[in-house]
Amino acid sequence: MVHGGDIYTEGKLKGQELIDFSSNINPLGVPESFKNSLDEALKNVVNYPDIKYRMVREALSRYESINEELFLLGNGAAEIIDLSISTLKSILIPAPSFAEYHLSAEKWGVETQYFQMEQKKNEDGTYSLYIDYEKLNKDLEGVDGVILANPNNPDGSVLNKECIRKILEYCEKAGKKVIIDEAFIHFTLLKDQSLVKWVNEFSCLLVIKALTKYYGMPGIRFGYGITSSKELRDEISKKQNPWNINTFAVEAVKSVLFDEDYNSKSIEWLENTRAPFIKRLMEYSIFNKVYRTYGNYVLCELNGITSKEFYDTCLKRGFLIRNADNYRGLSNYHIRLAIKDEDRNNKLFEMLKSI
Ligand SMILES: Cc1ncc(COP(=O)(O)O)c(C=O)c1O
Repeated sequence: MVHGGDIYTEGKLKGQELIDFSSNINPLGVPESFKNSLDEALKNVVNYPDIKYRMVREALSRYESINEELFLLGNGAAEIIDLSISTLKSILIPAPSFAEYHLSAEKWGVETQYFQMEQKKNEDGTYSLYIDYEKLNKDLEGVDGVILANPNNPDGSVLNKECIRKILEYCEKAGKKVIIDEAFIHFTLLKDQSLVKWVNEFSCLLVIKALTKYYGMPGIRFGYGITSSKELRDEISKKQNPWNINTFAVEAVKSVLFDEDYNSKSIEWLENTRAPFIKRLMEYSIFNKVYRTYGNYVLCELNGITSKEFYDTCLKRGFLIRNADNYRGLSNYHIRLAIKDEDRNNKLFEMLKSI
């Protein structure tokens, strides 16, 4: 499986409910504010959505404090990722990173170069993947653009803003594009980590975000891109289908971005759960390495059992985890676990004891 979240193949289609630790979705589930907007969505379903999506743009603009015109609207972050990659002739992709980057590049015939992320051990015993920015700058000379995730999937490391600024300065002068995937940015809890504010300064920059992960709505399929390059916006929007955002997604944007209650509960959950989750994983000898994360998922390297064997063992016990052996740059001992609510996390820890 290229993606997590496949609760169907081994689960629903076989009449089995799995506890899903493979997909990185906010365990608080669908925000109340969205549920409250469903009547309005149902009422509007009989009409085509506004083809210019003016209310969606207005809401995004208010939320991001960025001019409405700079937004691209997508059927999930995946659509904007895919179409932005289609505008390049060649691209630099980190290893490991989200599989769709190279799948899109392949699909559009974009020449792909990879750069391996470096690894270090932290003082608290966790490990981190990180980018060697000098090497990245050199590698950039041979390509049209680069895509980076902030934070990265599957490890949860964040970009160093000082270093990425230098990369942007270089790319702005050299006419190269920098695509930053911030699908998981909310989970970092770092106020100044997003690069969105820099889009006005760097026209080479496209930042992509989504409702999917933080607002627990992968089924709604809504993401957006922000760039001050009109040329890039035009190039992407020409390739889009009309009405690519459905009526439910329209109502979702208008409601959840301003749902303070959901936001504060999510922050509370992350603050109370992430660090203890990592600490607990480190107590199990089955894990050789546990990676420090700014996301809602943890990359681990197994000890004495392959990812495939571990995956199968978990499945037999009713748990779906992400076998990470198919990420370029990782080994067949890597897996990724999502961080869930306390109840499900405890079930996972109990299950791990039996392996
Ligand atoms: C890093 C990253 N970006 C984007 C996406 C896709 O987001 P969406 O479901 O909004 O298309 C994913 C999904 O797993 C992801 O891991």
